[in-house]
Amino acid sequence: MSSAEGMAPLDQAQRREGSAAATPETPVIRLEQLRKSFGDNLVLDGIDLSVAAGEVLVIIGPSGSGKSTLLRCINLLEPADSGRIFLEGEEITRKGADVSAVRQRVGMVFQQFNLFPQLKAIDNLTLAARRIKKMPRAEAEQRALELLRRVGLEEKAGQHPHQLSGGQQQRVAIARALMMEPHVMLFDEVTSALDPELVGEVLIVMRGLARDLGMTMLVVTHEMQFAREVGDRLIFMDGGRIVEQGQPSEVLDRPNEERTRRFLRRTLQLADSLEELTITEQGETV
Ligand SMILES: Nc1ncnc2c1ncn2[C@@H]1O[C@H](COP(=O)(O)OP(=O)(O)OP(=O)(O)O)[C@@H](O)[C@H]1O
Ligand SMILES: [Mg+2]
Repeated sequence: MSSAEGMAPLDQAQRREGSAAATPETPVIRLEQLRKSFGDNLVLDGIDLSVAAGEVLVIIGPSGSGKSTLLRCINLLEPADSGRIFLEGEEITRKGADVSAVRQRVGMVFQQFNLFPQLKAIDNLTLAARRIKKMPRAEAEQRALELLRRVGLEEKAGQHPHQLSGGQQQRVAIARALMMEPHVMLFDEVTSALDPELVGEVLIVMRGLARDLGMTMLVVTHEMQFAREVGDRLIFMDGGRIVEQGQPSEVLDRPNEERTRRFLRRTLQLADSLEELTITEQGETV
């Protein structure tokens, strides 16, 4: 399904574009003592983190541990209270940072696909490129078709979101995020709302971005197999902190911290026990 035709891997010059200070060794993302509270709820408690060019960082942790807030801060959807965020060496938390330019370089895909229901798949892709980047229609459509081909959906270009399966809609959402030629992609539980049989096709597309394009990615997910196979590094968050990090299979198979062990045990137990559950037509679980 994933055809690399017409899509060259991002070269270092492209990665550095728009950031004179960056060298190949400059982390794509660097967080320095990032803090964020909602009222008296401390959600990010001094996060330090670097993500290298081409690295796939997987983020796991219990509900409420701050995973989504972390991604939203990096994309400037949430203002941090203190600490600094650097994108390719440039501080984006400074006063006067160009938010629109940052969002073009940081693509984000959510659990809910957020496609425009009234627009065809191809128009979902071209809208922002034409409005924000002022890309001519023909050029935008050509690029959109290339990206739809990359996610295996070229033949669905003329369909509206309601005519597509959840997995197909999510693949359109990924292609849409790629339209702006982001230097890093943030994925927030993008397979969590999908029927189990549709999860694989989305994960395959994400694996293709990592392997074929060398995309730098931060991936919040419960898909441990994906974490093992595609992740370069895994961090476990709890209570707004990074509790533990390392090579994915190391952390998953031999966690050092009790909190990580407890979380993984619960996650695996849940997976086992859900296998055994069935829901009757009356909606009861037995
Ligand atoms: N806009 C908001 N206003 C107030 N509180 C918020 C807001 N967004 C998140 N929170 C709170 O911040 C904490 C962390 O939320 P966050 O969504 O980052 O967690 P998460 O790790 O992504 O959880 P989940 O696995 O359930 O998605 C939670 O206690 C949540 O209720
Ligand atoms: Mg979340």
